[in-house]
Amino acid sequence: MATSWGEMFPPSPGFTEKDISSQHGRVFLITGGTTGIGFELAKALYHLNGRVYITSRSLRSAEAAITRITSSRPHPSQKIAAGSGSLQPLKLDFSDLRTIKATAKEFLLKETRLDVLWHNAGLMIPDDPKATTAQGYHEQLGINALGPFLLQHFLTPLILATAAFPSTPAFSTRVIFVSSSGHRAAPKPDGVNWSDINLSSTTKAELSATIERYGQSKAMNVMHAHELARKYHSKGVMSLSLHPGSLSTGLQKNAPRIFNAIFSMFRYEPRFGALTGLWAGLVPVSPEEGNMGGNGKYGRNGGYVLPWGRWGEGSKDVFQGLRNRGTGERLWILCEELVRDFM
Ligand SMILES: NC(=O)c1ccc[n+]([C@@H]2O[C@H](COP(=O)([O-])OP(=O)(O)OC[C@H]3O[C@@H](n4cnc5c(N)ncnc54)[C@H](OP(=O)(O)O)[C@@H]3O)[C@@H](O)[C@H]2O)c1
Repeated sequence: MATSWGEMFPPSPGFTEKDISSQHGRVFLITGGTTGIGFELAKALYHLNGRVYITSRSLRSAEAAITRITSSRPHPSQKIAAGSGSLQPLKLDFSDLRTIKATAKEFLLKETRLDVLWHNAGLMIPDDPKATTAQGYHEQLGINALGPFLLQHFLTPLILATAAFPSTPAFSTRVIFVSSSGHRAAPKPDGVNWSDINLSSTTKAELSATIERYGQSKAMNVMHAHELARKYHSKGVMSLSLHPGSLSTGLQKNAPRIFNAIFSMFRYEPRFGALTGLWAGLVPVSPEEGNMGGNGKYGRNGGYVLPWGRWGEGSKDVFQGLRNRGTGERLWILCEELVRDFM
């Protein structure tokens, strides 16, 4: 799978639990928090005193994950006292767009703010590469990109309201899309095959086609983050995409054995992926960094984060499209059309 040197071999993390102040009073939502990166992120935020929601397709799994987290200890490097965090489950299944409004409603009934949303849930190489969501999209497209887009639609008003509170520092309200270095394998040049979003007409072998579909879904994460930033940086909202690093989680369970044999040597514990997410979601930024880059202006909003928390560069093709060809807005409009019946 396509990756860059800086994504493959990150330097030691410079921002960890020891650098983070108490998050008491802040509300966080992590999609897919029962395993892997999301689990580790929820664990860190809970011990840092945040009010944390995790999602799962199964409430029982979410509750089991919550029990494991609440009976765990804070990371030994953490400097602040733990003890006032909370964790709550939400049921969420991106494989059926009809169900997402109910999840969002449940959250909106419980909370009056949302400080950081991590779009983390995802899959790579489905059990059945031909499997589709309830609406007939290939699973990687539906679960990694269209579902999160619809969830974002329902939560944007609360995110904007949170950013508008007088006590909220500019650009501390964030939306983070957990993308992947795999976005570099998306269709060229824009990252999206506009005329065949399901990539159904591909002539590639099954595994290559599946990798391209994953790449496209992850390029869409990068593009959604950039477009969200373009829409809302004037409101003080920051939106970023990231590659979490190469981590030992359940994500690679269907990858070819040879691929896993080679790449397992370069995989890290999932906590490192959570550190990338913590950096993207919580690292303080200046007002200049919160602005959009481009046209010679300094700015980071809409950008791409490398493991374990560094500003980086995503695919040149994808970012050229975003900056020069309006592909972020084009994709936004397309996704709105695709999910309109479920809004
Ligand atoms: N691990 C890596 O090396 C790596 C590298 C690059 C990018 N990433 C990205 O990191 C993110 C997290 O992956 P991970 O490595 O932590 O893998 P993971 O352990 O397999 O976690 C994936 C999460 O996604 C959730 N999920 C799966 N299908 C879903 C659906 N239909 N609806 C809602 N949620 C669903 C799962 O929740 P339930 O099963 O509880 O529903 C699970 O918690 C993914 O977006 C992945 O693309 C990972």
